[in-house]
Amino acid sequence: MREAHAVLRDAVSIVVLTGAGISAESGVPTFRDAQTGLWARFRPEDLATPGAFLRDPKLVWEWYAWRRDLVAKASPNAGHRALAELESRCANFTLITQNVDGLHARAGSRQVIELHGNLFANIRFDDHSEIAADEWTGDIPPRCKRSGQLVRPGVVWFGEALPARALEAAFAAVKSCDVVLSIGTSTMVEPAASLPFIALESGAKVIEINPAETPLTSHCHFALQGKAAEILPALVDAAAHA
Ligand code: OAD
Repeated sequence: MREAHAVLRDAVSIVVLTGAGISAESGVPTFRDAQTGLWARFRPEDLATPGAFLRDPKLVWEWYAWRRDLVAKASPNAGHRALAELESRCANFTLITQNVDGLHARAGSRQVIELHGNLFANIRFDDHSEIAADEWTGDIPPRCKRSGQLVRPGVVWFGEALPARALEAAFAAVKSCDVVLSIGTSTMVEPAASLPFIALESGAKVIEINPAETPLTSHCHFALQGKAAEILPALVDAAAHA
């Protein structure tokens, strides 16, 4: 841990990649954790694909409404807050998240690249244009008053392209940074999973924070095994005072 502090303290350009694990201690379910993960209890293909939505729009809309309600009641944890603190101290800082829960912004992070969209955004099914609640009908799921198109959550579903600008910014960031912190991700879903490896190839130091092993663990410079809300505050604090 001490060496990881020094690496973080001496870094000029820091990139952070987060996954569902950083929100676990806020009470937001992850996806692949054995007992509590969403994909342990539901089938992604039944809920998180365009086909699933067309097959049963009401089921999918209500599942996302349940997730929105759960996240709206959750609060950012010490891990989210530590990253906001780190950003305030580092001029060249990029936070890339796979999470759609908006908790980084609520913790005070300013520059957040949301690779998989946001639970609280809504888009028209046909052209993915953003739509506000006053533009849609009272049906479940709602339809656009103007075009009649179904309204869907503004999150990336399986088989869909990631927002191009967000992905471009993420790749550029990992190619030109000193340190990457990969936090709370199973490192299984592309293209996000490649980001820490691209950083390694570009000569960056990689620190992983996760209670479990992932495909990145044996390749990174520091694998800090534990919970983000415990490790991050200590790591950020120590890096500041070292
Ligand atoms: P996963 O559920 O796949 O992985 C969560 C990771 O967090 C696991 O490696 C856990 O070990 C770790 N973890 C659990 N509790 C933790 C804690 N307190 N502190 C730190 N780590 C902890 O979630 P993601 O990797 O984010 O995509 O999944 C990536 C993508 O797959 C998601 O964005 C979502 C999902 O399908 C889409 O829906 C498109």
